[in-house]
Amino acid sequence: VIFESSLEASVLVAHEIANLIRRKEELNEVCVLGLATGSSPVKVYEELVRMHREEGLSFKNVVTFNLDEYYPIDVDNIQSYYYFMHDHLFNHVDILHENINIPDGTVSDQDLHQYCIDYEMKIQSYGGIDFQLLGIGRTGHIGFNEPGSHINSGTRAITLDYITRVDASQAFLGLKNVPRKAITMGVGTVRKAKRIMLLAWGINKADIIKQAIEGEMSSQVPATYLQEHENTTFVLDVEASSEL
Ligand code: GLP
Repeated sequence: VIFESSLEASVLVAHEIANLIRRKEELNEVCVLGLATGSSPVKVYEELVRMHREEGLSFKNVVTFNLDEYYPIDVDNIQSYYYFMHDHLFNHVDILHENINIPDGTVSDQDLHQYCIDYEMKIQSYGGIDFQLLGIGRTGHIGFNEPGSHINSGTRAITLDYITRVDASQAFLGLKNVPRKAITMGVGTVRKAKRIMLLAWGINKADIIKQAIEGEMSSQVPATYLQEHENTTFVLDVEASSEL
């Protein structure tokens, strides 16, 4: 779906999430959200916070799993996704601390492999993700599933693509400060979600959006793996859709 503005689109996405949270609450069930970072979902989080403040939308029945985190990184590093999520959403709503899951950028090298397996198992122990929010990187990555990622991959540590590190270098005040690795949910983890919405705004995303939607399915553009998911919507503004 293509919108005139990213604001209009973000409000719609936030409303779909809010409706799901409310529906699950009525059924006395937990609502499992897969969440993304980056600039693309910021206005969605703003709208959810507004709905919490003004309309009493409660997050008490919500369990969240974030897609990814740099590795290694400290939680108080303002570039960490831990910091981002608390700053944009968690500090402003009534979610229970124990229901927040973000890959831990501080686990030791030794424990990393088992940590990733446990993260994956925890997601599946809730019956998987009800709603997955995604952005897309210039390499076609979803989460941090860089080119070469397997369609059935699970949560794991990966090496970041050079382009991804260049894109992050401004925020980290220089390429040398950008971590070389990350922890990410896998393509397989994401594809098990019951509902997926991928957001992309602006002309800089036009080329990769064309490849993701119209290109052949390939590990070289991991977002193409969403083409065969039966309940995925690409939510675009006019600029991001301009190459379609
Ligand atoms: C990072 C994140 C992705 C995100 C991408 C795009 O690489 N790991 O999950 O989709 O950035 O970011 P933005 O939304 O700022 O364009």
